[in-house]
Amino acid sequence: MSEEITRIAGTKEEQYRALIPQIQALLEGEPDMIANMANITAALKEQFQWFWVGFYLVKNNELILGPFQGPVACTRIQYGKGVCGKAWQEEQVLIVPNVTKFPGHIACSSFSKSEIVLPLIKNQKVFAVLDIDHHLVNYFDPTDRKYLEKIIALI
Ligand code: SME
Repeated sequence: MSEEITRIAGTKEEQYRALIPQIQALLEGEPDMIANMANITAALKEQFQWFWVGFYLVKNNELILGPFQGPVACTRIQYGKGVCGKAWQEEQVLIVPNVTKFPGHIACSSFSKSEIVLPLIKNQKVFAVLDIDHHLVNYFDPTDRKYLEKIIALI
């Protein structure tokens, strides 16, 4: 496996296009989900320098903090609560342009201003979510959704 990420400049789309094959190479031949989630968060953080990127895993009917990069975060999120719990409940990607306008948003940090959460689904059940926070409002858009969906499909 390749052991470092080559960071590239360019549009968001160009950055994702350069990063995805590198993530594929990182994951190749590795069946351990936690190891792969850990490397995905590291690769995304390194390329995009986002404020926070991490996974929450469904365990005993709540979300528990998994591999992440960024400041310390809330460890447990209940079903339907916050953006993460809502994405789990609705089984849908949620893009939140301004976290202060999302009812029930869980603020792990006041620096987080916008957020995207993608549910990971296997056998029709959400088993984890990928949560990314940005320090600017209105950061995430359908381009992020499109490429992040490709990345979580690699898990
Ligand atoms: N803001 C999330 C909580 C997790 S942190 O952002 C890392 C939410 O509302 O679910």
